[in-house]
Amino acid sequence: MFLWGTATAAYQIEGAAEEDGRGLSIWDTFAREPGRTRDGHTGDVACDHYHRWREDVALMSGLGLNAYRFSISWPRVQPLGDGAVNARGLDFYDRLVDALLAAGIQPVPTLFHWDLPQALQDRGGWMNREIAPIFAEYARVVAERLADRVPLWITLNEPFVHMAFGHALGMHAPGQALLTGALPVAHHQLLAHGLAVGALRASGARQVALTNNCTPVWPASAEEPDVRAADAYDVLHNRLFNDPVLIGKYPDLSAYTGDLGFVHDGDLEIISAPLDALGINYYNPTRIAAPADDGLPFSDAGITGHPVTAFGWPVVPDGLRELLTGLKARYGDALPPIHITENGCSQEDVLTERGTVEDAGRIAYLEGHIGALRQAMDEGVDVRGYFVWSLLDNFEWAEGYHQRFGLVHVDFATQRRTPKASYAWLRSFLADQNTDT
Ligand code: BGC
Repeated sequence: MFLWGTATAAYQIEGAAEEDGRGLSIWDTFAREPGRTRDGHTGDVACDHYHRWREDVALMSGLGLNAYRFSISWPRVQPLGDGAVNARGLDFYDRLVDALLAAGIQPVPTLFHWDLPQALQDRGGWMNREIAPIFAEYARVVAERLADRVPLWITLNEPFVHMAFGHALGMHAPGQALLTGALPVAHHQLLAHGLAVGALRASGARQVALTNNCTPVWPASAEEPDVRAADAYDVLHNRLFNDPVLIGKYPDLSAYTGDLGFVHDGDLEIISAPLDALGINYYNPTRIAAPADDGLPFSDAGITGHPVTAFGWPVVPDGLRELLTGLKARYGDALPPIHITENGCSQEDVLTERGTVEDAGRIAYLEGHIGALRQAMDEGVDVRGYFVWSLLDNFEWAEGYHQRFGLVHVDFATQRRTPKASYAWLRSFLADQNTDT
């Protein structure tokens, strides 16, 4: 069965930041610091999904989806990151999983979507190798409770973005700007992933995947310095996170560091534990030119000549086909089946007086990308699922509530949900699908 779903993440939708024993996460700390997010927005309330989850499951059921990717808040389950388990936190996800299954929707939980327990950050966070086995223990705790009902697990969401935005550039929690000094964060996340694969399987998990954010990289010109820079960027964004997992070795990182002392003997065997699927989040390609003067071996040349989203991201549906066929060409038989675990766009959505949101741009975006996905499948790429980002307008990290990605509009003052035109479009699209193929 091909999975058609939507995706969300705990900190972006749940709210209830201090309820039922939930511990603090690095996003609570970061968002509450003045100047970190646009207009000082936080996820304290977000979409209040923690209280309104029944309504949200009903919205998904109304769409005709057969899958839902959500993330589990680690500090809800283990408020201090390790040790004591908060039963009320696990109970929440237990109820959600049962309600999804009752609605004919397969639950696809992600164990880490960037909301590290603050107590673990205080011990060094992902710069500290000890977090890896602690993550595996958390994975075990969750799987012991849910594995009997979950068909597919995702360990981490986008370790690249968490490393780059959270630890290299400081735009996301925990707000560190270590530049290339952040590379151990990549390795420790991957090690945590590998250890968690073992823990999940030992606890009865049926299928396990990792979700990477990938981008086709276009050199700004055919000149050698641009081509070399594009290759360096491809190493950092894509291959740093795909190669060790799929082929058990790191790409050449000499453009970034000469010291791989954080990689210990045996780590790559753990990291390359076989997967049942690879999750790919795709938003847009990246165009790269020769380095500027900031110490990095590349510079972003920007993409022109395509429509852009409210975020200013170029809309290039064929980039999804290019990405998928490129992964197949690079990894061949080492590439497991793929799920597109996120794809979608932010738009300047307006709730009209008639109570509608006419998001034609989002419909065009989804139509185009699903078309590109089909082409990639026709060209031989094994894709098993597609998840729209996102079900609801939600807390868009550093942008707060300013970027709307939902199929459903949320009025953050009243928590009123209004399905957009794209919701109706997707519902009729799904009704036309033969979900057995
Ligand atoms: C993340 C989501 C985010 C989306 C849009 C992805 O990188 O996984 O959490 O909301 O992109 O920026």
